[in-house]
Formats: sequence, C-alpha cells, structure tokens
Amino acid sequence: MQLVFATNNQNKLREVQALVPKHIKLLSLEDILCIEDIPETTGTIKGNAIQKAEYIKTHYGYDCFADDTGLEVEALNGAPGVDSAQYAGPQRNADDNMTKLLAQLKNKASRQAHFKTVIALYINGNLETFTGICKGEITTKKHGKKGFGYDPIFKAEGYTKTFAEISLDEKNKIGHRGKAVNQLIEFLNKY
Ligand code: IMP
Repeated sequence: MQLVFATNNQNKLREVQALVPKHIKLLSLEDILCIEDIPETTGTIKGNAIQKAEYIKTHYGYDCFADDTGLEVEALNGAPGVDSAQYAGPQRNADDNMTKLLAQLKNKASRQAHFKTVIALYINGNLETFTGICKGEITTKKHGKKGFGYDPIFKAEGYTKTFAEISLDEKNKIGHRGKAVNQLIEFLNKY
C-alpha cells in the first residue's frame, strides 16, 4: 500500500518510513511530482494539517498524511501558534522569531508554553487526526545550538536545559512530533 507523507524533508520521511509497517510504502511530495505550495490558510494548526492532507487526496488521488506544528504561549493567548514559522515576518527567520517572542514576554508573569503537532491522515475515505503536545516554558534568553526553530528558548517540563541543549534522541522521546508520530504508527499497525 502506498501512502503520501506531505513533506519534502527526506530525513523526516526516512525516520517515519522506518517505523511504519513493512507493507506501507511512503511517498514524498517530490515522488508524486507535487511541486506547488500547498495552501495553509485555515488559521489553526489542526485545520492546516487537514487542509494539506485533503489537498493531496483531492488533487493527486493518494491517501496521505500531513503534519503541522506550532508553539502556543499561554500569556499570549496561544500565539505564535499557527504563525510560528513567520512570527517576526515573511523572512521566516528563527532568530528573529525568538527575539520577538522574548520581547513580547518581557513583563508577563507566566512563561508557560507548549509545542503542538497535529498529524492529519486520510485513509480509505476516512479522516483521522493525532495530536502530540510537549509542555514547558519559555526561557528568558537563548541557550544552546542544537535543533531548530524555537528550541533555544524552550525548556520542557522537568528539564533544566532547553531543547537546543539536549540530544535529538532525547527530544524525540519527549517531544510533540514524536508523540504524534507514535499515535500515527499505532494506528497504521492495525492496517
Ligand atoms: P512545521 O509545521 O513543522 O513546519 O513547523 C512550523 C514552525 O514551528 C517551524 O518553522 C518552527 O518555527 C516551529 N517549530 C516546529 N517544530 C519545532 C521544534 O521541534 N522546535 C522548535 N521549533 C519548532
């Protein structure tokens, strides 16, 4: 059985391919010759994940799953949320995004935040969604060089180090994306 993972990130694809049952062959967007930007216009993380999976089903005919992730900060009513990639502007620069977030939180009492990943799966005419959440807090300064995005200013609950200071293995064990992927794999194991 063939299933599209709506990504062009070969690392993500290989990682998930290693975890899914052997009879499921994952295809990337490149594999199905989808080169256009898929619309992400719903205004929510879950909505955008569903929109991407639906787009592939409608325009390319494949069963598909798509993911969308954002950082939701309690004192900012869930911002940057669905706008996480371009919080500081269309340049989509991680350093600018973190600088803006630190400035927004300067006088706030709460620094509670969580990463949220939603995976939407269209399979055999049904839609399933899987949500992975990693709770934590935003630090007052950037720490560490590993990872990407907001990792240098996010400390998971119970940790003294940021995501940019711990190993990728450790981040995957406790992280939002890993949790959502595990639910997807559990579901696909029944196929
Ligand atoms: P995407 O939906 O996976 O492309 O994620 C959207 C944006 O959320 C990224 O551009 C990053 O700014 C942020 N983000 C997603 N996952 C992570 C993560 O694991 N660590 C830090 N930032 C992340």
